Amino acid sequence: MAKRRKVEQAMRDACARFGFGEVVTPTFEHSELFTLRSGQGIIDEMYVFKDKGDREMALRPEITASVMRYYVNELSTAPKPLKLYYVGNCFRYENPQSGRYREFWQIGAELIGTKTPETDAEVIALAVNCIRAAGLENYVVRVGHIGILKSLVREEIKDEALAAEVLRMLDKEDFDAMGDMFDAKTLPRSLFEKITAIADIKGGIDELNNLEDSEATRHLRETFNVLKLYGIEECQVDLGIVRGLDYYTGMVFEIDAPRLSAEKQILGGGSYTLSELFGGEPVFSTGFAIGIDRVVLASEAENPIQTGAPLDAYIIPAKDDMRKYAFGIVARLRSQGLKADVDLMQRSMSKNLKYASSVGARFAVIVGREEMEKRSVTVRDMKTGEQSLVSADNIGTAVKKNSG
Ligand code: HAM
Repeated sequence: MAKRRKVEQAMRDACARFGFGEVVTPTFEHSELFTLRSGQGIIDEMYVFKDKGDREMALRPEITASVMRYYVNELSTAPKPLKLYYVGNCFRYENPQSGRYREFWQIGAELIGTKTPETDAEVIALAVNCIRAAGLENYVVRVGHIGILKSLVREEIKDEALAAEVLRMLDKEDFDAMGDMFDAKTLPRSLFEKITAIADIKGGIDELNNLEDSEATRHLRETFNVLKLYGIEECQVDLGIVRGLDYYTGMVFEIDAPRLSAEKQILGGGSYTLSELFGGEPVFSTGFAIGIDRVVLASEAENPIQTGAPLDAYIIPAKDDMRKYAFGIVARLRSQGLKADVDLMQRSMSKNLKYASSVGARFAVIVGREEMEKRSVTVRDMKTGEQSLVSADNIGTAVKKNSG
């Protein structure tokens, strides 16, 4: 948990630096909240149950829909843009494997109220800053635009269910199955080739030159220009990004950690509209969610996450009549903000030193008779074994200076 918390806190701090405020939403909701537009993929994976009032409820598979419901119910008159972030557990009935769990944790952000390229760049910049703050060095940011493929597929394939199926296959990059389906449904081969050619546009921003100029390509170019101003140059274009969730309307993006052998996707996001489904005015939003479990796995695969000593000082009274003095010392260290603990089991000196070492205390603070009489303590560095006599008034400073 110390490692996870460190990663999570670094990403929370990044959200705060970008002016995002935290919100918390319920763990379970009416299942309809997620079935309205999240798509078949999510519906198949949801934990759904009836409550005592015979209402159909679901454990949240994601948090965006809940944030938008919260926005419609409570925040629609708040000044825009609204910048909200959240950390929470999500539930999906998937086949568990490394990095894919039935309960997992997300940190996510939603910027509500605008749809400019600057908005999208701001959200991508926050996402990249979260990943950098988490300490990850190897990651790939891919940015696309769902409008291009979605409008082509929906224009050319009038059967809605079939169009949705094609988009789902594109998300899974299952081109063989898609080809078979085109044949089975006698859809034109030329359309298949057009779709796969667009999905294949990947690389630098100049790859967009292979495509007719459109609102979507102009939007992406401008987003990349703003990202450059933010000092973010690592993004690639990928027009094959379709996203498993159905609510996206414009820019979409994903971040992968290539070091992970399976389940490499650590982040997904994009721009969407959802508020009108929950009874609100339509409002444009852009957001993302990061899989915290996967970020921790990816960071650990690069370098073990350092969390510092769990305890700054462990106080050891040498004899029973020094215990009262020892409790005064531990209270003083704690009041100075240090992580301090004291022997509660009246163990021998050697057993206490062993314990201090096993719990990862940075210092052992030994209180003997002589120390007590001089109103001092012996501070033992648990890494080097060095010992020094420190006055009781200065012990906090001595420990603080060297801890961490
Ligand atoms: P998502 O791509 O479904 O997007 O999930 C975001 C991230 O959650 C994934 O990239 C992955 O890292 C992590 N994740 C998903 N499923 C699992 C799992 N079973 N086990 C471990 N980690 C998992 C969303 O949820 C959208 N709400 C993102 C968003 C926010 N779009 C706009 N705003």
